[in-house]
Amino acid sequence: MARPMPHPLPFAGKPPYPAAMEPVADYWTLRDQLEWQVELGVTEAIADAPVDRYAQPDEPAAPAARPRQTAPEVPAPPAGPDPVAVAQALAARARSLDELAESQSGFDLCELRRGARSFVFADGNPAARVMVIGEAPGRDEDLAGRPFVGVAGQLLDRMLAAIGLSRGAADAGQAVYITNVMPWRPPGNRTPEPAEIAMMLPFVHRHIELADPEVILLMGNTPCQALLGKTGITRLRGTWDEVAGRPVMPMLHPAYLLRMASAKREAWADLLAVKARLRGDAL
Ligand code: URA
Repeated sequence: MARPMPHPLPFAGKPPYPAAMEPVADYWTLRDQLEWQVELGVTEAIADAPVDRYAQPDEPAAPAARPRQTAPEVPAPPAGPDPVAVAQALAARARSLDELAESQSGFDLCELRRGARSFVFADGNPAARVMVIGEAPGRDEDLAGRPFVGVAGQLLDRMLAAIGLSRGAADAGQAVYITNVMPWRPPGNRTPEPAEIAMMLPFVHRHIELADPEVILLMGNTPCQALLGKTGITRLRGTWDEVAGRPVMPMLHPAYLLRMASAKREAWADLLAVKARLRGDAL
């Protein structure tokens, strides 16, 4: 059984409601009415007038005119200097590590510079035979202004100590010099973007030339990608490669070793290979 809704509803048109906000009825009134109808046996709602739901529209609607295809507007590339070219010019001009640090810290085309507290250039003995290159400063490094000082850095120190190397050593033979591909902490410790790495690369190459190490250790994927153009550290590790005529050992990043203790055995094998190379053992 169906019954039309009672009409008009009790509150319609009564003050105190201003005309523009006049409610037809409140929720409880409508609900009472609905319940009352259900009690009477109403099973579906109908309007005062019947609706022919099978009626066809008189004319099929004409298809809308196709908008003319115009080429999408491509935003013009931002005008301004090419960051990589600027970095190359600045890096090439640096005659010492101090000059390099000064010009790199003033390089303002890398967005990461704006969000970082510190410019983290390097630590250890620049005369060291061994240069370590990591990814980027984390929170601890950003606060301290030095690379690899957090938990991963402390593990790195212990790993290097296991083959007789330390960043504090005055003797170049026992010393290490440590830096990163990126001198500014990325937000949330995210991996630096390829474009960000590309604009740091001229500085990293000049850094290597000026420090002039005998052996370079690349910690993790980011420096391998930047300097060797290769990723897949678990495959790359343990095999000597070359950058600008210098032997390079890709190694597992200490942060990875903290999560994956079982990989320490491989890191140890790589450290022994580095030790053997420094001793001049035939490889
Ligand atoms: N991880 C890096 O790669 N570099 C640092 O300086 C610290 C953590």
